[in-house]
Amino acid sequence: MSKRTCLAIVLAAGEGTRMRSALPKVLHPIAGRSMLAHVLTAVRGAGTQAVAVVVGPDSDAVADEARRMLPKAQVFVQAERRGTADAVLAARTAIAKGADDILVIFGDTPLISADTLKRLRGAIDHHASVAVLGFRPADPRGYGRLVMNGHRLVAIREEKDASDIECKIDLCNGGLMALRGEVALEILGRIGNKNTKGEFYLTDAVSIADGMALEAVALETTEDEVRGINTKAQLAEAEDVMQWRLRDAAMEAGVTMMAPETVFLCADTKFGRDVTVEPNVVFGPGCVVEDAAVIHAFSHLEGAHVGKGASVGPFARLRPGAKLAAKSRVGNFVEVKEAEIGEGAKANHLAYIGDGRVGAGANIGAGTIFCNYDGEAKHRTDVGKGAFIGSNAALVAPVKVGDNAYVGSGSVITDNVPSGALALGRGRQVNKPNWATAKAGKKVAAKKPAKSATAKKKTKTKR
Ligand code: UD1
Ligand code: CA
Repeated sequence: MSKRTCLAIVLAAGEGTRMRSALPKVLHPIAGRSMLAHVLTAVRGAGTQAVAVVVGPDSDAVADEARRMLPKAQVFVQAERRGTADAVLAARTAIAKGADDILVIFGDTPLISADTLKRLRGAIDHHASVAVLGFRPADPRGYGRLVMNGHRLVAIREEKDASDIECKIDLCNGGLMALRGEVALEILGRIGNKNTKGEFYLTDAVSIADGMALEAVALETTEDEVRGINTKAQLAEAEDVMQWRLRDAAMEAGVTMMAPETVFLCADTKFGRDVTVEPNVVFGPGCVVEDAAVIHAFSHLEGAHVGKGASVGPFARLRPGAKLAAKSRVGNFVEVKEAEIGEGAKANHLAYIGDGRVGAGANIGAGTIFCNYDGEAKHRTDVGKGAFIGSNAALVAPVKVGDNAYVGSGSVITDNVPSGALALGRGRQVNKPNWATAKAGKKVAAKKPAKSATAKKKTKTKR
């Protein structure tokens, strides 16, 4: 099979009105990646040489996403939504180039795997001219039914056109199909639109092939793989299926999770060995967690790199560009963005570290803020190796604190601090002896009962 060439046609011209969203349907994310990107990842894994994506008019965003995933993807526009067969024929010039196998895949079926696409190709290699992916859904309503004659697939009947007997068939059409390249245009060209919806149905390829004495077959897969997403509720179901795939894969690779059902991953989240992820942790796109790191409960990470043996949270937020070196510790309610935390460095309770660097072994006290934004531009803060920043310090960027320097608690640091120096940038404490005692005495005097109502009134107006 490896020698056979393959063209994949991904249909994404549907309007997706039932999503009730300004975002095109196939751009809705599942595990942090668009549905279209999931489909194109499977397509790439199935060994396709050419990929055509069929989009509707004014779908620049969809075309951009297709090219971002696969720079060589060809984009075709289906001017009018006239059915799935018409959509496939929008890519006619690509089909005419004559690939051995043609795969048709729906952009709204994001859970499809590369292996299943390979199985469909295998059936074409095995002398079928049409191979359809079937499944037995819990609720078959809305799906086309596969009409079998022994092992031969003779027709697919759309529900709206099906007889009562045909409606009872529990084997349904998952929507994906493989066609033998040399007969594809011939078959597609014969598809008409004489049906209830007046659309050109790709599913008619089966009865047409049968009429041409060509073999059509059905392969079966699970409902999860061919779940079509038409609504936000179905999007949530697909997210759940995908999350379990990712959690299972992570645990398989040696990640410990006490409550995997509360951990949310992205399709690109990468884990080393012996990582622990406590409950209620969310990973956005672009996260790498190296060996033996611990992500404590209720942390949120996105675009973050967590080094070996590092500790994050509980309740930490790592934003894009957070780079934690080995054995560093980012504590509770700490936020890190576009900043490196050096080896063994610590950032404690409620610190904000944005745009800068914390040297190895440095200690960032509780409540320390990297004041990185002046209302117009962002500036960097650089804390040297082994430096100690006292609690509640404000480091006003651009500023550098030298190696092993010490910043007193509550300081507002606006000038660079030389290595090894102590910097204090705060009001000096003043003690006023007996001030509080005297105040307490006055209060006691004021509280003594007034002699008459008028006297009381007078005292009030005096205040
Ligand atoms: C389709 C199948 C049905 C199958 C079901 C599985 C047909 C005729 N019916 O029905 O047998 O059980 O999928 O989910 O194929 N599209 C276009 N242009 C069009 C029409 C559709 O690009 O003119 C795209 C849509 O964006 C979508 C895909 O084709 O990605 C399927 O279209 P949709 O209308 O969702 O088909 P179903 O009614 O779900
Ligand atoms: Ca659909």
